Amino acid sequence: MHTKTVYPVSTFGGELRVPGDKSVSQRIAMLAALAKGTSEVSGFLRGEDAMSTMSAMCSLGASAKFEGDILKITGTGGKFKEPANPLDMGNSGTGTRLLAGLLAGQKMTVTMTGDASLSRRPMGRIKTPLELMGAQIELTGEKGTLPMTVRGTPLRGIRYELPMASAQVKSCVLLAGLFAEGKTTVIEPRPTRDHTEKLFQTLGIPLHIDGLEISLNGFGPNGPQITARRLTVPGDFSSAAFWIAAVAARPGAELIVRGVGLNPRRTALLDVLKRMGALIKTEIVEDHGDPIGTVFVRGAKLRGTEIGGDEIPNLIDELPMLAVTGALANGDTVIRDAAELRVKESDRIAVTAEHLRAFGVDVKEHADGMTVRGPAKLHAPPEPLASHGDHRITMSMAMLATFADAPVKLEQVECVATSYPDFWNHLEQLGGKVE
Ligand code: S3P
Repeated sequence: MHTKTVYPVSTFGGELRVPGDKSVSQRIAMLAALAKGTSEVSGFLRGEDAMSTMSAMCSLGASAKFEGDILKITGTGGKFKEPANPLDMGNSGTGTRLLAGLLAGQKMTVTMTGDASLSRRPMGRIKTPLELMGAQIELTGEKGTLPMTVRGTPLRGIRYELPMASAQVKSCVLLAGLFAEGKTTVIEPRPTRDHTEKLFQTLGIPLHIDGLEISLNGFGPNGPQITARRLTVPGDFSSAAFWIAAVAARPGAELIVRGVGLNPRRTALLDVLKRMGALIKTEIVEDHGDPIGTVFVRGAKLRGTEIGGDEIPNLIDELPMLAVTGALANGDTVIRDAAELRVKESDRIAVTAEHLRAFGVDVKEHADGMTVRGPAKLHAPPEPLASHGDHRITMSMAMLATFADAPVKLEQVECVATSYPDFWNHLEQLGGKVE
């Protein structure tokens, strides 16, 4: 078990680039594995989730190797081979749920397993629509959880209203829809990240988007014919978010993040921080597929705000860090409509609230969120903080630790490698102190 001690610092900031986007890297791993030929991918995340998904695709017949910063992925042209062993999806919910969709219509049987955190996460949410399409999905875990066995069958298109705002479920159904006969339509209750749709469009797969309804015509059991190409993964906004929020809440601090993805379905954190009084500017540098650009931040005294409704899916992974920011701001920060947080890598409502309380912060937990009162006098917790196997919990608490009155111990920090292996180096690069 790895432990880190994070020291309080009086200032913090500088300039950096964050690693590649986790959601985009995993979608590219799957679609490049489906394509014919060798795709050249720049910026692919060398984090565990993306690597688990890439190696699952290699077990299905693709091959991949890094040449410098470029990941060359040679696809199967749609002819996947049945893997000899169960696919170990590690910690990756995105990999597992999207791959289930991709495999549901293939002529083969595949089992997926995962780590302790992933094995607690609900998979019934993808089983339901996939079975409506005719798929055979078996969840052998205790409560609709992994291990999952997908027995490929012919699929038919469906019209499916998502019961929750989930880009993973949406993407799973769209991927299965590619191999179905007829039209597949998903209807979202709120807009969620649209990387799958954008990549389909980049790869020439026709898609019809009408507000919250997304439709495609299935290609039948052979799937679409897509060809390899050059693809760029933007820097992960959710990784940049830790630095952006921590600098925004520190009067006098300054930060520049370059090469970061600025897809509006991912950046609602910036709107919330601005509402809290943050000084933030963005500049789009490249704009094909996902926009990529620079974020400039100057620290200020922040005030609490209310976060809910349509904003939630577009900052879902930033909510632990927003709760931390709430503890640094003046007044109450109220998070609502975020019950989905309870089924992430950990129960992020319970764990965030528990950890904030350990720092002495006044937090009220709600079924669908929390209220955080700031500004808190932050005391280093007497006991080390457990990660619960959740990378974003560890990184959010590391940020709060830089504001505490004494060094803070964090336990089981190896999970950070899921999305951000360079996190501790970057923390030091920006003036933090870690042991
Ligand atoms: C993701 C979607 C979100 C997000 C997760 C990645 C994706 O999950 O929390 O980290 O890549 O589609 P849900 O779709 O389950 O909300």
